[in-house]
Amino acid sequence: MDRHISVLLHEATDGLALNEGATVFEGTVGLGGHSRILCEKIGKTGFFVGTDADQDSLTIAEERLKDLPCKKLFVCDNFRNIDTVLAGANVESVDAILLDIGLSNRQLEVAPRGFSFMRDEPLLMTFRSSGEGLTAREIVNEWAEESIADIIYGYGEERYSRRIAKAIVEAREIEPIETSGQLAEIVKQCVPKFGFSKIHPATKTFQALRIAVNDELGALREGLAKGFAHLAPGGRMAVISFHSLEDRIVKEFFRQKAQEGEGTLVTKKPIVPSDSEVKENPKSRSSKLRIIIKN
Ligand SMILES: C[S@@+](CC[C@H](N)C(=O)[O-])C[C@H]1O[C@@H](n2cnc3c(N)ncnc32)[C@H](O)[C@@H]1O
Repeated sequence: MDRHISVLLHEATDGLALNEGATVFEGTVGLGGHSRILCEKIGKTGFFVGTDADQDSLTIAEERLKDLPCKKLFVCDNFRNIDTVLAGANVESVDAILLDIGLSNRQLEVAPRGFSFMRDEPLLMTFRSSGEGLTAREIVNEWAEESIADIIYGYGEERYSRRIAKAIVEAREIEPIETSGQLAEIVKQCVPKFGFSKIHPATKTFQALRIAVNDELGALREGLAKGFAHLAPGGRMAVISFHSLEDRIVKEFFRQKAQEGEGTLVTKKPIVPSDSEVKENPKSRSSKLRIIIKN
């Protein structure tokens, strides 16, 4: 099912205060949920430039947005390369930027890339559908125990990181860890089950590996800096994040721009989903939206 329920859809797209004819960059097109509203707002004279690291998602989005009259350009790239993408489109500055980071439901539930500990799939965890580059399989089977522990702790904030890394190394000595199911089983044995914990014991480890494979925090830092540099004065940038590590980076970056007099915060506190949105889409519960205007 190629479906993804867009998070904070109206809060993010309204927050960009787009006018007819605007140029907008969306770094995380996914299945085009936010893109549709953005394209509607900029009308037939607007220009929409969208990237996603995942070509399969981008192809679906492009097809879904065909009916919208604005000029559109879809580029399969990491949003950290916004500078070269815009240069390739002959665009110097944009009126708005939207990043809705993380992964889509399609990537979690349809594309067999091992993102979910609830399924038994090849252990890739790449946003890229092409399959090249670093994979989670490589990390768990080839990296040193200490490096594995460091990423599980640093990106997963998992207190049992050392125990999990040790178990991974012991397991791979018997046979390679090829699937998400195998990995989830190993992790489950290391994390004590607390009666009150609502999350699956492998949640933090899987999050950590995904962040490492895709260098998500590095991409976010680079995308924020380059994106802000390419915003026109008065232009807005909106970022939706899904966990504290990401939100901290966005918060700090925006705060610094405001302190330096380069930006004005639209959201002093992040916008979070309403109770009804969380009820309808429980996956939205950890999302946070921050918006800044370039002075
Ligand atoms: C939460 S989904 C976006 C959903 C989209 N807003 C919608 O409404 O359909 C995040 C998307 O961003 C992509 N992505 C995540 N990090 C990226 C990056 N650094 N560069 C390019 N795409 C990225 C993922 O491949 C995924 O398709």
